[in-house]
Amino acid sequence: MSDQKNGPRHVACIMDGNGRWAQARGRPRLFGHHAGAQRVRDVVKACPDLGVEYLTIFAFSTENWKRTQTEVAGLMKLFRRYIQSEARELLAAGVRVRFIGDRVRLSPKLSKMMDELELLTSRNDKLHLTIALNYGGRDEIGRATKRLAKEVAAGRLSPDDVDETTLARFLDTCFLPDPDLVIRTSGEARISNFLLWQSAYAEYEFIDTLWPDFTPAVFAETVGRYGNRERRFGAVTA
Ligand code: FPP
Repeated sequence: MSDQKNGPRHVACIMDGNGRWAQARGRPRLFGHHAGAQRVRDVVKACPDLGVEYLTIFAFSTENWKRTQTEVAGLMKLFRRYIQSEARELLAAGVRVRFIGDRVRLSPKLSKMMDELELLTSRNDKLHLTIALNYGGRDEIGRATKRLAKEVAAGRLSPDDVDETTLARFLDTCFLPDPDLVIRTSGEARISNFLLWQSAYAEYEFIDTLWPDFTPAVFAETVGRYGNRERRFGAVTA
């Protein structure tokens, strides 16, 4: 177990490698996504013992629509199934679930289920689970800027009062602290448009493990490494 005092309060995960994990077993990519959903369950359960209060996971990016229709439809079905099958357990475990990303391209059915899960778990605060669905960092900043510009145009906000904290209030993540640690599985060292603004001072862990192999033990080990690092936020320590 990591040292809870030095551990990251907010961990964000880029869950990569489901497709390769399935292909290595001669199975369709969706088989990997289903195995990945099981790891989401395990990682959520592991958070409180590791002192992690906020977990943000990248479930579907604004770029993922470019995948085959079969894979996209399979993922959407998996999200609906996850919400349906996990709602009671998440509620009982004290998890508050929220979604970030643009809802416009999601089906009304899925969007309604997302609203219902957010409402159902809204009184929980043991773990804040944020699921990024149809999320892209640049898209988020673009949408936030548009909303901010509308406030300025309506005369409710002065351009002179706009600074970085103002913009942060318009982001999808306005209710979240910035991530302390961003983990990407599967050996790729990229951030792929995830939490661009919010991760300005985050620590990164790029690990070789494919997401379906990201067990609570690997999670604990990765989180544990964080405690040994010194974060200076641009300052110099004595
Ligand atoms: C990236 O792996 C993974 C995704 C695009 C989907 C992430 C979804 C899950 C882990 C499923 C469950 C999620 C929830 C919230 C229930 P990839 O397909 O790009 O893998 P590859 O790089 O090996 O092809």
